[in-house]
Amino acid sequence: MTNTRFPAGFIWGSATSSYQIEGAWNEDGKGESIWDRFARIPGKIADSSTGDIACEHYHRWQDDIALMQEIGLIAYRFSAAWPRILPEGRGKINQPGLDFYSRLVDGLLGAGITPFVTLYHWDLPQVLQDAGGWPSRITSEAFVEYADVFTRALGDRVKHWMTVNEPMVSAYVGYGVGAHAPGHTSLDEQLAASFHLLLAHGLAISVIRANSPEAQVGLALNLSPQVPASHSLVDRAAAWQADGTHNRWYLDPLAGRGLPPDIVELYDRPMRFIQPGDMNTIATPVDFLGVNYYERRIIRSSAVPEAENMPREVFANPEQTEMGWEVYADGLYDILGRLYFDYRFPNIYVTENGAAYPDRLAPDGKVDDPKRVAFLKSHIESAYRAIAAGVPLRGYFVWSLLDNFEWSHGYTKRFGLAYVDYPTQQRILKSSAKWYQRVIKANAIVD
Ligand code: FCB
Repeated sequence: MTNTRFPAGFIWGSATSSYQIEGAWNEDGKGESIWDRFARIPGKIADSSTGDIACEHYHRWQDDIALMQEIGLIAYRFSAAWPRILPEGRGKINQPGLDFYSRLVDGLLGAGITPFVTLYHWDLPQVLQDAGGWPSRITSEAFVEYADVFTRALGDRVKHWMTVNEPMVSAYVGYGVGAHAPGHTSLDEQLAASFHLLLAHGLAISVIRANSPEAQVGLALNLSPQVPASHSLVDRAAAWQADGTHNRWYLDPLAGRGLPPDIVELYDRPMRFIQPGDMNTIATPVDFLGVNYYERRIIRSSAVPEAENMPREVFANPEQTEMGWEVYADGLYDILGRLYFDYRFPNIYVTENGAAYPDRLAPDGKVDDPKRVAFLKSHIESAYRAIAAGVPLRGYFVWSLLDNFEWSHGYTKRFGLAYVDYPTQQRILKSSAKWYQRVIKANAIVD
């Protein structure tokens, strides 16, 4: 692609989250989070690691801002650790926790970098989990208190807020599958959790707007196209169902369409957690929608024996990231188009996109990651095409600034633009960071 100049003011950024980079898990009055607890359960994390130290960002944040400046980032998306602010989930405020984020925000603004803050990226205070966690409505109410405290303190300087990150993963992987904190395996808990995460989001919007005038408020959803493997009725039905459980379950209520009836029927549960007025609260219009895009899913029905189904027509690109995720850049174009032309979200950001590859620190001190460059380039091309088609895409954030604690994979998967040498905590910009630096400078796709 040539002449791929992005609109003036397009926001180029990179993203992280608190538990994955901060470390300092018990410093300065921070309370325990569900990830502090979960990572300690033997067998839950691939390399038996925890986020206790992670990238020591809590102590190295100034160096990390310098790194962002070197790359030329226009914006930085990070999350706040709720248990640093309210160690008991609600009630007593831990001032040093607020001070940390206040210094970080001042540092970013001083460096000319716009902060995009996520309030909840999965590190729930353990005390709230003990009181029922996300399957309980109390957690949505506690979230509003936390959002109030946090945005009151920083709302004068932060103007881009995301309430929750990927409610689907929190609910499904945390409460349904059990591979993430708190590690439960209950469909009932999963459904209640998914609803209360959306409710927390909806309830917090007006509070955030009151504390942070002129702020843009949204949330980040992870969305993937669910593509039927053939045109058979069974494959198409299975793909539509997967779209329902993964995408529409979140998108439809946010867009004021209510819960998708086909999926409500599929789950066949009373859903007693829904109270009058809740669906309206959840449908409170957002200023923007953030999309975290990584892969597409090709769905093959198991309703009929393979031999009786139509031949497959859609095959995965053999190119995969180290996560085993298919590299499929067109999926980002498809999702972005759907979010605007079907759902009509007024502003859209790609709040995460990136790839894990087995990066190596070479003897010459360099980290060359051509596959990540190719991955980012193809996805940024999709973003460009979406804008050309009329999608109001305002910015793009690479996941991630730093290699970090990749949840159940521990430190075995590296997503960073900067390589982290964990024993020394040294950060080394990979060739992808240097490429991204040129993209930002040109505000266009470069070779
Ligand atoms: C997303 C998460 C983020 C990171 C990437 C790889 O689902 O939001 O924290 O783990 O995946």
